[in-house]
Amino acid sequence: MGDIAQTASALVAPAKGILAADESTSTIKKRFDAIGVESTEPNRRTYRELLFRTPGIAQFISGVILYDETIRQKAADGTPLVKILKDQGILPGIKADVGAKPLAFSPAEVVTEGLDGLRERLIEYRELGAVFSKWRAVITIGDGIPTPYCIETNAHALARYAALSQEQMIVPMVEPEVLMDGDHTIDRCLEVSLATLREVFAQLARQRVQLEGMLLKASMVLSGKGAPTRASPDEVARYTVNCFKESVPAAVPGIVFLSGGQSDEEATVNLDAINRYAAKVGAPWQLSFSYGRGLQAAPQKVWSGKADNVAAAQRAFFHRAKLTAAARVGKYSPAMEKESVAA
Ligand code: 13P
Repeated sequence: MGDIAQTASALVAPAKGILAADESTSTIKKRFDAIGVESTEPNRRTYRELLFRTPGIAQFISGVILYDETIRQKAADGTPLVKILKDQGILPGIKADVGAKPLAFSPAEVVTEGLDGLRERLIEYRELGAVFSKWRAVITIGDGIPTPYCIETNAHALARYAALSQEQMIVPMVEPEVLMDGDHTIDRCLEVSLATLREVFAQLARQRVQLEGMLLKASMVLSGKGAPTRASPDEVARYTVNCFKESVPAAVPGIVFLSGGQSDEEATVNLDAINRYAAKVGAPWQLSFSYGRGLQAAPQKVWSGKADNVAAAQRAFFHRAKLTAAARVGKYSPAMEKESVAA
């Protein structure tokens, strides 16, 4: 387990975190639609090359999660995108699931697919350079949901994926995302998060997954996006850290958060509050980030598909990564938002 425990720790090294750039073709199309860019293979390549070639980004980014298309792509000058990352000391990762589908007999819920042929795909991904992987399960809060059936089914699949990933010496990033959609209270989110995490760790134990060689990718414990009053960052920090203390074993080296549709600033402020609170009360795991939208919304908007905007988009990405990395060690302040984005 030595190698994968080392990789897991490197991914959550202090003052660094992960860029989730593993949007599936349908998800990146939605992001490109929002900025008026056609989602073609060359455009996706150009955009991701822009991110990975941002000068100085390796001081804030320990790893990047790639999509199946991206791990095989070459930059405009012929350099494999994976090599661009590795040459900067950034660890390449891969999205291992193939997406969420309606759950049989509970159509308002979803189950993540991708176990068939997974061993063979992981072997290929390892040959292409992946040293970590991600599987995202989706838990929805609503009337009468999530059901224990949905939680158990997703947790079982997460553990099957994690075991297969470790078998190939690839660090699994186990992601049971509790969606923030809805008008639920933070207490309801806590209840669902606890039930989910307890089931996930029970399944991981049953399926012999080594805790030192994995990372948990988690949602923060938050009020629903549409809740009439939303919990403050201090409350989010207290609920989130206390939730993990009840459900995540200390042997897990790190917990990395998804941004999950929070605004860039909200995701940063909450990560900062979580790290400040954890430093005060003590926590056994590193508490870092693995943001998709939280890191990319700003550069996407600046870029808008125009070659002339590449340098400005890279500065916007650098700035967001710098602030998020500061929050990851509890050293962010909102005044930093207004600092010049000049790298
Ligand atoms: P967001 O930060 O945009 O939620 O994406 C992170 C991710 O990788 C979800 O699986």
